[in-house]
Amino acid sequence: MSSKTKMECCVIGTGYVGLVTGACLADLGHSVTCADRDKEKIESLSRGRVLIFEAGLEAIVERNVASRNLGFTSDIRRAIASCEFIFITVDTPPDAEGKADLANVDSVAREIAAAINGYKVIINKSTVPVGSTRRVQRIIEEAMEEYHEFDVVSNPEFLREGTAVSDFLKPARIVIGSDSQKAIMRITGLYRRIDAPLLVTDPVSAEMIKYASNAFLATKVSYINAIANICEAVGADVREVSLGMGYDERIGFEFLKAGPGFGGSCFPKDCRALLAISGDSGYDFNLLEGVLEVNQEQQERVVAKVERALGGLDGKNIGVLGLAFKANTDDIRESPAVNVTRMLLEKGARVTAYDPQAMDNARQALPGAGFAEDPYQAVQGADAMVLLTEWDEFKWLDYGRARELMESPLIVDARNCLDPVVLRKLGFHYEGVGR
Ligand SMILES: NC(=O)c1ccc[n+]([C@@H]2O[C@H](COP(=O)([O-])OP(=O)(O)OC[C@H]3O[C@@H](n4cnc5c(N)ncnc54)[C@H](O)[C@@H]3O)[C@@H](O)[C@H]2O)c1
Repeated sequence: MSSKTKMECCVIGTGYVGLVTGACLADLGHSVTCADRDKEKIESLSRGRVLIFEAGLEAIVERNVASRNLGFTSDIRRAIASCEFIFITVDTPPDAEGKADLANVDSVAREIAAAINGYKVIINKSTVPVGSTRRVQRIIEEAMEEYHEFDVVSNPEFLREGTAVSDFLKPARIVIGSDSQKAIMRITGLYRRIDAPLLVTDPVSAEMIKYASNAFLATKVSYINAIANICEAVGADVREVSLGMGYDERIGFEFLKAGPGFGGSCFPKDCRALLAISGDSGYDFNLLEGVLEVNQEQQERVVAKVERALGGLDGKNIGVLGLAFKANTDDIRESPAVNVTRMLLEKGARVTAYDPQAMDNARQALPGAGFAEDPYQAVQGADAMVLLTEWDEFKWLDYGRARELMESPLIVDARNCLDPVVLRKLGFHYEGVGR
């Protein structure tokens, strides 16, 4: 890329979104500094250690650090001062009322005000309530000592953990919310090598698009889970029902898999935040409340299935396969697998768990659980195997061997990813979700 089109970018908040954003922008040929207040994280990234598990990310980081397109710093003000594009990618966790806590975003806005030394495009990728673009703008205007021109743009991020790099580089759309033609032109130039529909809109609509999209996907998951529960009662197979629905292009196949409910760092938090936004606006979003209720019940139903099949959980040995909130990530934030495991423990079960990537994160969250080296160790002597995350490796286990290791042959497959016919032939009692 020529030096004219190479743009100086600073990404503040080097977590899942920030590191992927920084590494991918560098890979597109820009010069990127990733900044974070967590000095340990920055030190380890500077030594080449990527602390999160995300397909393809380590290679991109390595390549761009080597070509000097990507660097890391905890000197946030210096990074701001040396760049035109400032990305905000800090976490926005829920507060006690379920609203997005903007303390981290506000603090970055104050850092920008302290370091600003010329025109900056400030691009917010954190998921924030409507009105936050204006809020950041106001904080900077009020805190800036000497006036410099700047624009704040809402540019919500839609990447999914597990496929974050390809989602960033090949997004379904790029949404830009801004009232400034200058900022829109600059940011369009920044993304020009990404081939995706570009939706330019006002900041409030851009902020709303993010919440409306996540809440809609969560609704799809709760909808199919509710259908699965009816399927169980009437003797239908929800997998067939999903397939038959998905062929209709107006419905589509995505997010129609029945299971233990949705989790992760976004869907539950963003649904609660949208409920808070709608409540503040005077609208009663009963539909979305129902989505969250179904999601909570769905996790409890998995526990109830194990409990019913074993005639109680107290003192029972359970082998849990999967702790991450979904396959191909080490993230356990609001993981249904962790919630189900916690409920099993609370009901007196002894749990031994295994996950290919998420065990380090899960140890702290599940102090009462044991952790196994592999799936077979997890189910050794178990009264039941409970499959909670749809890792490919669980689909291809030697279930004959697992059967021999287990005390009693019960499998609760909360992800519907195993073949009940094969397992029943091996002598298992199999229970899925909605089939
Ligand atoms: N994780 C996802 O899949 C995903 C997808 C789309 C959008 N989002 C949104 O993106 C945002 C970031 O999510 P994440 O999962 O990357 O979070 P994360 O917790 O993985 O990372 C956030 C990082 O920001 C840093 N940070 C916090 N406050 C800071 C400050 N004042 N100065 C400098 N650094 C600071 C933290 O130390 C941390 O490293 C959230 O609003 C989230 O809702 C997340």
